[in-house]
Amino acid sequence: MASSGSGRMERLTSMLRRRGIVAPAFEAYGGVAGLVDYGPIGASIRRRVINAWLEYWSSSGDILEVESPTITPEQVLVASGHVGEFNDLMTSCRKCKSAYRADHLVESIRDDAESLAADQMTGLLESESIQCPGCGDSDWEPCAPMNLMFKTSIGAMGSGRVAYLRPETAQGMFMQYSLLYRHFRQKLPFGGIQTGKGYRNEISPRQGMIRLREFTMAELEYFFDPEDPPMGDDGDWSTPVSLIPSSNLDGVEMSLSVALESGVILHPTVGWFLARTLELVLRLGVSPGNLRFRQHRPDEMAHYATDCWDLELEGEHGWIECVGIANRTCHDLEQHATHSGKSEFRAWRPFESPRVIEVDRWAPVRAKIGPVFKQRAAEVTSAIEGLTDMPKQAPFDIELADGSTITITEEMVERRSETITETGEWFIPHVVEPAFGIDRIIWHILDHSYQESERDGELYTTMRLPQLTAPYDAVVLPLFDKDGMGAMAMELRSSLSSMGSLKIDYDSSKSIGRRYARADEVGIPWAVTVDHQSLEDGTVTIRNRDDGSQRRVDQGSLMELLTRSKHERDAL
Ligand code: ATP
Ligand code: GLY
Repeated sequence: MASSGSGRMERLTSMLRRRGIVAPAFEAYGGVAGLVDYGPIGASIRRRVINAWLEYWSSSGDILEVESPTITPEQVLVASGHVGEFNDLMTSCRKCKSAYRADHLVESIRDDAESLAADQMTGLLESESIQCPGCGDSDWEPCAPMNLMFKTSIGAMGSGRVAYLRPETAQGMFMQYSLLYRHFRQKLPFGGIQTGKGYRNEISPRQGMIRLREFTMAELEYFFDPEDPPMGDDGDWSTPVSLIPSSNLDGVEMSLSVALESGVILHPTVGWFLARTLELVLRLGVSPGNLRFRQHRPDEMAHYATDCWDLELEGEHGWIECVGIANRTCHDLEQHATHSGKSEFRAWRPFESPRVIEVDRWAPVRAKIGPVFKQRAAEVTSAIEGLTDMPKQAPFDIELADGSTITITEEMVERRSETITETGEWFIPHVVEPAFGIDRIIWHILDHSYQESERDGELYTTMRLPQLTAPYDAVVLPLFDKDGMGAMAMELRSSLSSMGSLKIDYDSSKSIGRRYARADEVGIPWAVTVDHQSLEDGTVTIRNRDDGSQRRVDQGSLMELLTRSKHERDAL
């Protein structure tokens, strides 16, 4: 990142608006905090970040993309814990009525701000005379939890079914677990990925693209057997990075392979996904010097996680969480199995060799059960056969499905010893999840790539985006829009555009210097100029955005250069 300077953020933000990259949405009607528009250039950058993300994860073959609805019935989110626990504490200023997330008001004085209870927080605001950022007063309403989900209803009026806009895409992958399990032929490990909108009714979204109410998430749920946690050697295991484990807030600088060997990272699968996340974000254009992994303290962990490392990026907004890599264990699948009563959320673990075991069981004596239980006899018989916890002697009590308890007497059962062969067992898979916030990542890629310099006494800005996430691969410029240069440039643009996934812009407006500057400002890596000589011998000049160097090439070499850089991009 170029050094932060006074007004740099304002200049960057105003450039993003002016060039149609990112701007507040619905501005004609005053705008809505937490909702943004991506214009043509921004939407192209966003699409490329998403495509690169999808390609990165799906290239190994054990991870596949899925798609699920954004409207989610309440039962799903009750099971996942979001209805009960997806809350932030809020308060509002008694004088100016502005609402705030309470932990944000005290985060500079309390590291554990997110874990304080409502009454502790109310007391803290008062004892520390915390001032309202809006009006400076310090008279607060008592803090209260607010659920962050947008509630809606599926169907008409009173008969509608309660639902929410999804707060994370992850539940879609849990709901599709059995489809993935079948697709991967009942063999773990495997993963599902999904990109799409997530919705959170954030209390006070005041940081541009950092805290949105509708934002793009990109999440991966990797399902595995906890007795055999997977780890691959792909990813960036060797670059030294800053790590802040919850046990050492001073942090350490080391590669992820050393962190795993030395026990700073405990779980091999979590380590593997940190290494892959690191490799991916560096390729997307994040600057390595402004990146760190921070482990959650036990009291700040989300309700579903037992371990979580955030990838935090540093920029104009300070250090911001952009990816959360959580060990969700079997939490979600187990909850869905319990709440739905379905058996589809499990996996089969075959034994290396079949196990022969002796089991003692009670066999029902139908002739005695029938006359006593009459039409319920079949239910009682199967309840006896289904006993997992074997009572040592009869009589004993058992509970039926309707919750009633009955007594089984001595003559209703016979004790039998049986030899059975077991080939495996059912278990609930564990999950490691990297959850990326695409908008926060885009902000930081832009922030880290944005460079200001002085040229001819004026501010000159360049966006040093890697070609992978640049809005276009190249721009074609006729030196002058006359003598056939415009037509030749247009033709060149369409022939380059027809080559696979190259995205080529065309610009013939104003001087060539202004056009180079316009392309540099939004990060187009190559500018191809058609000039008088091009008309004679077909050659063009190609200019490199980052050093301004130019060379003359024939169109074959131009194709080769852009194709090579395309392949470098696809080599992700
Ligand atoms: P924060 O503490 O900043 O509210 P979070 O811990 O709630 O974030 P997660 O629930 O882990 O975030 O969400 C996963 C990712 O989604 C985050 O790492 C972040 O990149 C992104 N994200 C979360 N909330 C928002 C938001 N309101 N706007 C934009 N991106 C978000
Ligand atoms: N799926 C992670 C989160 O939304 O918190």
